[in-house]
Amino acid sequence: MAAYYVTTPIYYVNDAPHIGHAYTTTAGDVLTRWRRQRGDDVWYLTGVDEHGTKVERAAETGGVTPQEWVDRLVEQSWRPVLETIDAANDDFIRTTDPRHRERVQNFWRVVRDNGYVYEADYEGPYCVGCEEFKLPGDLVAGIDGGPADQCPVHQRPVEMLKESNWFFQLSAFADALIAHYEEHPEAIEPASAYNEVMSFLRQGLVDISMSRSSVAWGIGLPWDERQVIYVWFDALLNYITAVGYGAPEGSAEAELFVRAWPADVHLVGKDILRFHAVYWPAMLMAAGVALPRKVFAHGWLLVGGEKMSKTRLTGIAPEQIIVHFGSDAFRYYFMRAIQFGQDGSFSWEDMSARYTAELANGLGNLASRATAMVQRYRGGLLPASGPGTEAEEHLRSLLITVAAEADAAMCALDFSGGITAVRRFIDAVNLYVTEQEPWVLAKDDAQSQRLDTVLYTVCEALRAIATLYHPVMPKAMSSLWEQLGAEPSLGPLVDQRIVQVGDWGQLRAGASVTKGAILFPRLEEPAE
Ligand code: MSP
Repeated sequence: MAAYYVTTPIYYVNDAPHIGHAYTTTAGDVLTRWRRQRGDDVWYLTGVDEHGTKVERAAETGGVTPQEWVDRLVEQSWRPVLETIDAANDDFIRTTDPRHRERVQNFWRVVRDNGYVYEADYEGPYCVGCEEFKLPGDLVAGIDGGPADQCPVHQRPVEMLKESNWFFQLSAFADALIAHYEEHPEAIEPASAYNEVMSFLRQGLVDISMSRSSVAWGIGLPWDERQVIYVWFDALLNYITAVGYGAPEGSAEAELFVRAWPADVHLVGKDILRFHAVYWPAMLMAAGVALPRKVFAHGWLLVGGEKMSKTRLTGIAPEQIIVHFGSDAFRYYFMRAIQFGQDGSFSWEDMSARYTAELANGLGNLASRATAMVQRYRGGLLPASGPGTEAEEHLRSLLITVAAEADAAMCALDFSGGITAVRRFIDAVNLYVTEQEPWVLAKDDAQSQRLDTVLYTVCEALRAIATLYHPVMPKAMSSLWEQLGAEPSLGPLVDQRIVQVGDWGQLRAGASVTKGAILFPRLEEPAE
């Protein structure tokens, strides 16, 4: 079966991980877990980008070799983030991996053999922050005025660089790329990103240097040992090197390549859209490799209206938020509060407000009320439902509607829309409890069967909610699954299928319902 293959950008190892990086990885993880629960075979890749001048200089300042420097950063900063945000990636690629190096060299050999690489001189303004030659028209003046000699992203002066290096004949692919995207408008999303790329392509493409002689820390050019491969033209290849491009025929890795490639979606921040939607597919065309099915450019997390970044010292580490709210609330908040594809701001106030309203009061309260009532009125054993009324019928049919809506939204990478659909169901279940007043029914023996029905209905609704929210909040929903006593008859939560979530009556009467730990504890006031 072909795998649904999801990637994140590989992050610059030299930066301290902040919530901007964690944002992309979280989105990829929610998508991965959702697709897995649809029964899809999914492969989820993330990793780090380790070469380039910045790393070389930082290692020198730190008094260690570049390899020691990156090893330390990967182990101390980057791998731990995955655990912090609870990511279920299948692989973690490092551009210093031998598998990557060999395959990158192999790839460029193929591109050169195909006639798309030539040698020439180049001089131009270069931004070390971006690891990119800039066009003079890209540059801006500093905040105190002066000449337009600064990189617009890093707001630092660029360096003039003159090099004799190897060029990739990007210009040869403009027409083919336009034709490809005209035929596949779904290959770049959202629409604003598609339009941006198309207008860039329609201006024509110029060839671009694919090697550097001034950098030592990189992957050597196989045919010219004075040069290393330009870091972007090494990094982009991670998406195929990690799944076995060029692995020996018949090997497990070669099989993975057949299973995973082409990628179904490359998730990227909008700042690196051009690399992914222009350079990368052109490189693949030049090597005769199939193109990814989709590049999705999401927006930026802003702080004070600007892109959060290490350079501007506005980075917030994921742990800073997670230590307070937990990983589930972190995942929920960023997927829920920001429309994927648009910019969004993080604020502690907004996060606290949503946590309290939507998680602690909305869902957490419903779960604890339901389990407490089964404990109190039925000794912790889930009663069998009596005949349903219109109220139950309404919830059952609403569930079918919201499950279909959530699935369509999640598959379209509209995470906020997916969550909103589930929230509508939670609100309806809360309203049902308020209207049915089980605490009143409990006082009247004649209503005993009615109380059974209401208790069963609420627990069964929570069974569906746990399934639908599990990709977003794996820990809390696993705990809910346990409290509902669902596992002995239904099996593990990860195995619950989205398509079957609307089949009513899955929880078995007699299941042991327990009042476990509170799913979303009340927030403590931060210490002054
Ligand atoms: N190393 C390159 C990518 C190579 S991919 C072949 C790179 N790395 S990066 O560490 O600077 O950032 C990569 C990604 O991190 C962005 O594309 C985006 O996915 C995420 N983000 C970094 N800062 C961000 C925000 N402030 N907001 C949202 N996402 C951000 O570029």
